[in-house]
Amino acid sequence: MASKPRKSTASASRAQRQVTTVSAVTSNRNASFTAPGLSAGQGRETIETLQSRLTALVDLSLTLKHIHWNVVGPAFIGVHLMLDPQHAGVQAMVDTTAERIATLGGVPNGLPGNLVASRTWDDYGLGRASSQGHLAALDIVYRGVIESHRQAIDATEKNDPVTQDMLIGQTAELEQYHWFVRSHLEDYAGGLTDAGATNELDAARSSLRKSKSSTTRPQRLSASGSR
Ligand SMILES: [Fe+2]
Repeated sequence: MASKPRKSTASASRAQRQVTTVSAVTSNRNASFTAPGLSAGQGRETIETLQSRLTALVDLSLTLKHIHWNVVGPAFIGVHLMLDPQHAGVQAMVDTTAERIATLGGVPNGLPGNLVASRTWDDYGLGRASSQGHLAALDIVYRGVIESHRQAIDATEKNDPVTQDMLIGQTAELEQYHWFVRSHLEDYAGGLTDAGATNELDAARSSLRKSKSSTTRPQRLSASGSR
C-alpha cells in the first residue's frame, strides 16, 4: 500500500517536470536584442511588417505551384513552365524575409496554421482552369501582394532602411513577374482582358469572355474575304 501513493507522487512530479520542460524549450517572444542602431520599438514594428510580408509570400509561392499544376488548354506548357522560375524566385524571397525577421530578433512563422489564421484574404479561387482564366486570377493575386509590399516599403522608410532596401528589391522582381502575367492579358492598345475585376473569379470570367470575342472576330473577317 505504501508504494501506491509514492507512485502517484512520482508520476505527478514527472508530469510536472514534463510541463515545465515543454514550456521551457520554446518561445515566440522577440529576442532581447535587435539590429544595432535600432530601438526595441523599431525592431518590433519592422518584425511585424516583415511577418505580414512573409505570410503573403508563402501564400504566393503555394498559389504559383497550384496554378502550375492545374492550368489546362492549348497554352498549357508556356504557362506551366513560366511559373517555375517565378515560384523559385518567390521561395528565395520567403527565405530572405524569414531570415531578416530572425536577424532582427523575431521568430519567423511560415507554418500553415499561422498563415490561415493571420491572412486577410481567401484561398486562391480556381481549380482546373484555362491559361487565360488562371493568368487573370494571378493578375489579381500579384496586384494584392505588390500593393502591400509597397505599403511595407513606406512603413519601413524611417525605422529600417536595410529592410526597406530588401523589400524594394523584392518588389522589383514581383513587378517583373506581374508583367509576364499581364502581357498574356494585354491587347495591342494596352487594355487588359480582366480590366475592372476585383476578385479572381471575376477576372477569370472577364478574361475568358473577352479573349473568346477577340478570337472570333478575325475568323469572321477572314470568312468575308477581307484580305
Ligand atoms: Fe513541376
